[in-house]
Amino acid sequence: MAINKITVLGSGVMGHGIAQVSAMAGYTVTLRDIEQSFLDKAMERIRWSLNKLVEKQKLSQQDADAIFAHITPKVDLKEALRDADLLIEAVPEDMNLKKKVYAEIDSLAEQKTLYASNTSTLPITDMAALTSRPDRFIGLHFFNPPQLMPLVEVIPGNRTNSDMVEMAMGFCKKVGKQPVLCQKDVPGFIVNRVFIPLVHEAAYCMDRDGAKMTQIDSAVKFRLSFPMGIFELADYTGLDVIHKATVEMHMRDTKVINPHPAIKKLFEEKSLGQKTGKGFYEYKGDKYERVSLTEEEAATYDPIKILAVAANNAAWLITKGVCGREDLEKALRLGMGLRKELFATVQEFGAKRVLDTLKELAAKHGAFYEPDPYLVNYRG
Ligand code: 3HC
Repeated sequence: MAINKITVLGSGVMGHGIAQVSAMAGYTVTLRDIEQSFLDKAMERIRWSLNKLVEKQKLSQQDADAIFAHITPKVDLKEALRDADLLIEAVPEDMNLKKKVYAEIDSLAEQKTLYASNTSTLPITDMAALTSRPDRFIGLHFFNPPQLMPLVEVIPGNRTNSDMVEMAMGFCKKVGKQPVLCQKDVPGFIVNRVFIPLVHEAAYCMDRDGAKMTQIDSAVKFRLSFPMGIFELADYTGLDVIHKATVEMHMRDTKVINPHPAIKKLFEEKSLGQKTGKGFYEYKGDKYERVSLTEEEAATYDPIKILAVAANNAAWLITKGVCGREDLEKALRLGMGLRKELFATVQEFGAKRVLDTLKELAAKHGAFYEPDPYLVNYRG
């Protein structure tokens, strides 16, 4: 399964970054989208990111220029797929759209082309079944920003063959990433199973504790060792992405998320976060910008409920055999930038306190909060 030419389908937040890291690893890349203006914007973002890396002396200007030249933007799908060894699909998370896209790809792709999807929530087995090559189909889930986040979750479907898993692991390493194998095709895979429910929980914390967004976010950043606050991260990820992931995950498993209406509302208002200048917070433009969070504010809010929900979903992953504890911590460190192991933070807050918090929440707000057996039996 020699890979030389890669076609990335979809040039949004994830697609442009995946194209860039692939070109940085020496692959010849075609980036495809349905409108030239989307591709122009994507190439502008790639240029911005390469300039940043030059500024930080991670790349020379000459290398940055060569990498940029290795990415060809294309609207014509047939031309984009010509001679592709690996297709990485990163179109929006909507099963009907994916159906349409894979039917089109299948009518044009060469027999040798391997298929990978950057889906963050859709079932790999179901998507693979839409295509002519379910044995050569795999999930390759990158994290935002793909240029900086070292994790890729590798998710085989029921019919994915073992050569394909090996190819995917090797490809991730070649593009400088660290793969974690997600052993079951569950909603949200590993990281999103922990992350997406937290956005909703943080919104409930505002209602139930009367806390301000910056109080919660500061506490998450400075007391739970996240690199960003939860609302800040939601805005950075995009409320469209969060909302679509919520719908898909909740449809497959109601226990995974306790949806808060604020997320759907922001999505419907088109307040999608940083990219539209407004989400939970307001921003000056559509460029990378951080929210001001402080240790002083962190001291004014106890983020125990957020920690408890994170730990409960993490525990579920271990109980269900999706990943072991080591891979779980690795995925959270590399995919969400956690500076401390989640279960070390649980220990610091007190495992019993975390468990009692879940029991109290379950008594007041229902089954979503019922503690997973792994946490009930957890002794550190
Ligand atoms: N390319 C190159 N440089 C970039 C960049 C990019 N795409 N994006 C940001 N940078 C630069 C910034 O401009 C900044 O440069 P500066 O020093 O000149 O201002 C530099 O990187 C570092 O940024 P910061 O100082 O703001 O801070 P951090 O040290 O916190 O690093 C971060 C930034 C890597 C984004 C870090 O905050 C982080 O890890 N955040 C969490 C991200 C996360 O959890 N992602 C996963 C979301 S879930 C997901 O993607 C799955 C999906 O399916 C939903």
